[in-house]
Amino acid sequence: MKKDCILEFENVTKYYGSELVFNNVDLKIKKGEVISLVGKSGSGKSTLLKCINRLEGINAGKIKFKGMEISEISLVELRQKIGIVFQDYNLFEHLTVLDNLTIGLIKIKGYSKKESVHKSLNVLKKVDLADKMDKYPDELSGGQKQRVAIARTLLMEPDIILLDEPTSALDKEMKDSVLALINELVDEDMTLIVVSHEDEFINKVSDRIFSFNKHTLLEKKNG
Ligand SMILES: Nc1ncnc2c1ncn2[C@@H]1O[C@H](COP(=O)(O)OP(=O)(O)O)[C@@H](O)[C@H]1O
Ligand SMILES: [Mg+2]
Repeated sequence: MKKDCILEFENVTKYYGSELVFNNVDLKIKKGEVISLVGKSGSGKSTLLKCINRLEGINAGKIKFKGMEISEISLVELRQKIGIVFQDYNLFEHLTVLDNLTIGLIKIKGYSKKESVHKSLNVLKKVDLADKMDKYPDELSGGQKQRVAIARTLLMEPDIILLDEPTSALDKEMKDSVLALINELVDEDMTLIVVSHEDEFINKVSDRIFSFNKHTLLEKKNG
């Protein structure tokens, strides 16, 4: 394995029951790369992301994170190192913005309450939501909720972030605030795998763009 290869698919095949989703996916992703996955609904994009952090199992092949098969990494560790952000935020509705962030630091990272609050406030500033720390999710716009969801993922200090249609549920202005934040992650050399229909944005930020064609992952030629 080359040292800068952070995630590797070797001949990965995935079925749901007898239904083939994708076949023989072979892909090496380097640290800091921005990989996008585009294409038709139902083609397998979400499934591919879910296989990376073991929300779904695979039927054949190997997925390796930093050279180690993901099946040999504990779920807690894998999901800290590889964060996933969905279209619909998955925030805890009964917790404030701040508590949505600190809970993971306290329970998963084992930080003290004080340290968790300190780290969370720093990340809230980064996503431009420090003034919303005491609000509940239903008091936020969709774009703000999605930025909280991204903040929560960032707090785990992941090596890779998977974004599954992060702006699909949002209208134009809200989209822009989330795309601006993703753009910041790109500038900071975060390794990203993005599923999105925002073609202009995707063309701008991606190092490589892929789509599924008849269950096979193909790289799209740019330009
Ligand atoms: N949990 C599941 N059980 C069975 N089939 C599924 C499940 N999730 C997705 N599928 C099917 O797998 C295919 C790929 O779905 P998905 O990965 O969600 O596609 P995309 O994200 O590209 O829209 C679709 O045919 C979908 O109906
Ligand atoms: Mg999907």
